[in-house]
Amino acid sequence: MCDKTYPVFALGKVAFCAPVDGAKPDKSVYCVTIELPENQKPLSGQFFMLRSEKSQHLLARPISVYHCEKSSDSKITVSFLILLKGDGTKELCSLEKGDGVQVLGPLGNTFSQYAGGESCAGESSAAAKSCAGESSAASLSSDSSAPNSCAPVCVIGGGIGVAPVAGFSETLPDASYDFFACFKSGSYGLENVHARNLVITTDDGSVGIKGMLPNALDAQKLKEAGYKAVYACGPTPMLAYVQKICVESGIKCFLSMENRMACGVGACLGCTIETTEGNRRCCKDGPVFEGEKLIFAKPQAAGKTDSAKTAAGANNAATGAKTESAKTAGPDLSVNIAGVDFQNPVIAASGTFGFGQEYETVFDVNRLGGICSKGLTLDPRPGNTGMRLWETPSGLVNSIGLENPGIRHFIDKKLPEMKKLKCVSIANLSGHSIEKYVEGARLLDASDVDMIELNISCPNVKAGGMGFGLEPCMASEVTSKVREATKKPLIVKLSPNAPSVKDVAKAVIDSGADAISICNTFQAMAIDIDKEKFVFDNKTAGLAGPAVKPLALRIVYDVCSMIKTLPEEKQVPVIGLGGISCWQDAVEFILAGAGAIQVGTATFSNPNCMIEIIDGLKKWMAKKGYSKISDFCGKML
Ligand SMILES: Cc1cc2nc3c(=O)[nH]c(=O)nc-3n(C[C@H](O)[C@H](O)[C@H](O)COP(=O)(O)OP(=O)(O)OC[C@H]3O[C@@H](n4cnc5c(N)ncnc54)[C@H](O)[C@@H]3O)c2cc1C
Ligand SMILES: Cc1cc2nc3c(=O)[nH]c(=O)nc-3n(C[C@H](O)[C@H](O)[C@H](O)COP(=O)(O)O)c2cc1C
Ligand code: FES
Repeated sequence: MCDKTYPVFALGKVAFCAPVDGAKPDKSVYCVTIELPENQKPLSGQFFMLRSEKSQHLLARPISVYHCEKSSDSKITVSFLILLKGDGTKELCSLEKGDGVQVLGPLGNTFSQYAGGESCAGESSAAAKSCAGESSAASLSSDSSAPNSCAPVCVIGGGIGVAPVAGFSETLPDASYDFFACFKSGSYGLENVHARNLVITTDDGSVGIKGMLPNALDAQKLKEAGYKAVYACGPTPMLAYVQKICVESGIKCFLSMENRMACGVGACLGCTIETTEGNRRCCKDGPVFEGEKLIFAKPQAAGKTDSAKTAAGANNAATGAKTESAKTAGPDLSVNIAGVDFQNPVIAASGTFGFGQEYETVFDVNRLGGICSKGLTLDPRPGNTGMRLWETPSGLVNSIGLENPGIRHFIDKKLPEMKKLKCVSIANLSGHSIEKYVEGARLLDASDVDMIELNISCPNVKAGGMGFGLEPCMASEVTSKVREATKKPLIVKLSPNAPSVKDVAKAVIDSGADAISICNTFQAMAIDIDKEKFVFDNKTAGLAGPAVKPLALRIVYDVCSMIKTLPEEKQVPVIGLGGISCWQDAVEFILAGAGAIQVGTATFSNPNCMIEIIDGLKKWMAKKGYSKISDFCGKML
């Protein structure tokens, strides 16, 4: 499996959408078949992020591959089984033939990576094939002579979790496996399962054995059957049970996990799962995990240790930059921020873009102006426990809690990869104390990173973070100490939650900031009304996305207005962010005074959005007769 060939972001077309037979209640599960381009060929166990072209929702929904085929005209058709859960799945199940669906994928690892490469004749080759590989899906399960030469495997699906394991079973030789399917009521999704034994359980006894998985399978039975391995997907309690009986019987198991997802590609750290090897991203390191490594009962929060100015905004056009506009005729999008040349003013925001590589196959990341790294602390941090992502109307509340590998790891392992890209590399520096910020700044100063973005605005950590960015005196102290520790161009990222963002901005400029980025997330809250509990372990978290755009725009405008009144040598550039999702938003921020912009959450809804912003900006400038960004930067001030 070549990691570099996917994921791909494309527009698929619905070929089929209808309720499946057998699911109870009726019309609770749909089969949605989508036509995809040839280069989106998935393997069993993988999933796609699906979002209707006309979606009312910010985030795409992760859905596993159930079945796929190659059509005569080389198109891949992938079928998904979708359980109606909330509004997002309702939207997907209401699609009609010919409707467009934004499809990011295939994503994640595979069941076949664990099933393949074994000595059993016939099995490894079958398991290593893609669902719609060289041959049709049907022929993958046709080799019925092979399996009996070695031990069978056990496949378990619970509820909608049947979808990925049924897809996986198609890649196994017929009758080389036993299949346990557990439902509340009725049964579905088993038409392509050609198991040696198919055992169905239902809570209400409507099909098969009455009861749940323990009524059909326990450690003793696993042992007696002599299974070589167990593969399962389903509700968490069922997976915890499978893990337990596999440990008891000494049989290896591979479990497909679920968690809320925003990016799907490993960039946002919203979907992490606790394992014996530390946090692992469900979307990128999973969704299939070796069972014995998963930790189901989460222990309570084990929070480890903290772990050249330009005048008048970006009004100095770049000199000598490898500008993209130099290559083509038309407006020049290049900007200079704090002495650093950017080929265009579009920067990926910290925490939403990993370290750049995560999106490399999705679009040409080299076209961006810059990339801000995930917030980095001196020591690695595991991030927050509990819920990390919560979607709201036009918004995303996150509580990642600065999970990161630490600054040394960043410098050794991530920065060299970032530096291979054409865009400006920016390290987002976070900390729990001034000493840690300063030590981190010293390490970054000695590295190749182009700029430092000092994050004094994270609302998701108990100590430090936003605490440094709310009042001018604290903000000033940390900025001046970090300023002393580094000669790198220093951006200070401010919080919208400060009583006076203008006062904090003035303080950090006086203390040596070369540029300011505004703003980080807005402190927010969500309450689970069923459980009557706060959604986030920290009670509060940070809101971002289109919902905050008008608020962020106003703050950027206020700060830029204030900066305009300062002496020329203190007129540092402002980088605007908060809810920007299209080129029109970017134009608004630049008109309000931002010399460059950052994009975060919008990339989750539309991975192409930053490229569309760059192209849209250029077209708009040409139409308006602007030749460079400074022609309209701050025009509203
Ligand atoms: C790797 C993976 C594969 C999946 N495969 C399938 C599948 O094949 N068929 C299927 O029907 N469902 C599958 N799911 C679950 C599916 O993604 C959720 O049911 C769906 O996102 C719910 O969205 P909603 O708007 O209908 O529900 P709501 O509850 O309104 O969603 C609110 C928010 O929470 C998220 N969310 C809620 N439940 C889940 C969940 N269980 N997993 C992830 N995010 C969730 C939503 O994406 C959304 O952002 C899979 C999940 C993952 C992580
Ligand atoms: C999942 C997620 C993780 C984030 N992590 C960081 C971080 O580590 N450091 C930081 O300065 N900002 C972080 N942010 C804030 C963003 O960089 C940005 O300031 C904010 O999301 C507003 O922009 P947006 O509306 O375009 O997303 C994070 C935001 C999200 C959604
Ligand atoms: S959803 Fe997994 S890291 Fe973003």
